[in-house]
Amino acid sequence: MKFFLDTANLEEIRQAASWGILDGVTTNPTLLARENPLDVQEHLYRICEIVQGPVSAEVVATDYEGMLEEARALASLHPHIVVKVPMIRDGVRAIRTLAQEGISTNCTLVFSPAQALVAAKAGASYVSPFVGRLDDVGTSGLELVRQILTIYSHYGFETRVLVASVRHPMHVVEAALMGADVCTMPFKVLEQLIQHPLTDVGLERFLADWQKRQVSSAP
Ligand code: E4P
Repeated sequence: MKFFLDTANLEEIRQAASWGILDGVTTNPTLLARENPLDVQEHLYRICEIVQGPVSAEVVATDYEGMLEEARALASLHPHIVVKVPMIRDGVRAIRTLAQEGISTNCTLVFSPAQALVAAKAGASYVSPFVGRLDDVGTSGLELVRQILTIYSHYGFETRVLVASVRHPMHVVEAALMGADVCTMPFKVLEQLIQHPLTDVGLERFLADWQKRQVSSAP
């Protein structure tokens, strides 16, 4: 499973990249607005230079022509850019056109298996089911991931399933058990994947025992 970071924060991206387990980044208008960069394109370029993999950058137009114009500009920024396009009618049309132009897309805001099927038929490179937001409204986000994986396996679609709106490590683990291609997660969740209280206690005990041995064997 590929690990993407769901952030536009350069420090978080640098840190995760330094651990050697970062495969890509997803941004969205909310995450970029949080960083409030002076120059958005420059900021995206800097992210692309840190990450050796796909970086999703979202269009904010909602009409076909506007989305295409933004998508082409974003794609020309850096070879790592994947253009995020919302699952709306004009978005589907834009994804199809961009696929024909060889521009990678991530179909975002996907909340049903039907939408995921449409995204794949349009030729999206990635589809992003938002698991946390579905959980928030009392539906199982992970059940949607399972349904999408089943549907895609029947037809051999090349669209990769990018599990998004991840809230905790079990979202990542369950998605990995199902064989989802990618999980994009906040920095906090990536840290949580590494941590375990028994690891901390165990390490503390090993080091204390080692310290004692050195003290007792000192001349
Ligand atoms: C996906 O690419 C989105 O950026 C993101 O996962 C949305 O997550 P949220 O529901 O935590 O805002």
